[in-house]
Amino acid sequence: MRKAIYPGSFDPITNGHLDVVQRAATLFDEVIVAVARDNNKSSLFSIEERVDLLRETLDTLGLTNVRVTAFEGLLVHYARQENAAALVRGLRAVSDFEFEFQMALMNRKLDPGLETMFLMPREELTYISSRIVKEIARLGGDVEMFVPRNVAIALKGKLGK
Ligand code: PNS
Repeated sequence: MRKAIYPGSFDPITNGHLDVVQRAATLFDEVIVAVARDNNKSSLFSIEERVDLLRETLDTLGLTNVRVTAFEGLLVHYARQENAAALVRGLRAVSDFEFEFQMALMNRKLDPGLETMFLMPREELTYISSRIVKEIARLGGDVEMFVPRNVAIALKGKLGK
């Protein structure tokens, strides 16, 4: 049983994240989409809201080997607890690389048995990020092409435009 963890802030989930989840689901027996409580960022959505948005979205895709959960503390500790073989991270562009490389090597130092695997989303999704989507929504722009429908509605509800 090969289990992978796809960790992140998911504040909120975008179509780019969804693409990565779908790819990971074909490679592993089980994928845990793990929403971090400890991510050094202040979030727009609470951890419960982020988990709910992910669950709603993934329910519509019918991916039977994917589950969503929240975790706190170090990612490597959570991965060990779940007996995961790998971490999955999405890589969109060279600009992501430096941070991702540092995190992957640090996690491997902390747990040499845990590999990080990078998956690239479809090219047409590579410019999407949660940060930019929130900015567009905050300024009254349409975000329906970048995020699932339930997320677009939630963003409108939060940001009120
Ligand atoms: O979506 P993000 O914000 O790029 O995800 C970053 C995340 C949540 C994967 C990272 O902050 C994390 O792993 N947080 C858990 C705490 C931890 O293990 N920190 C050390 C990472 S080397």
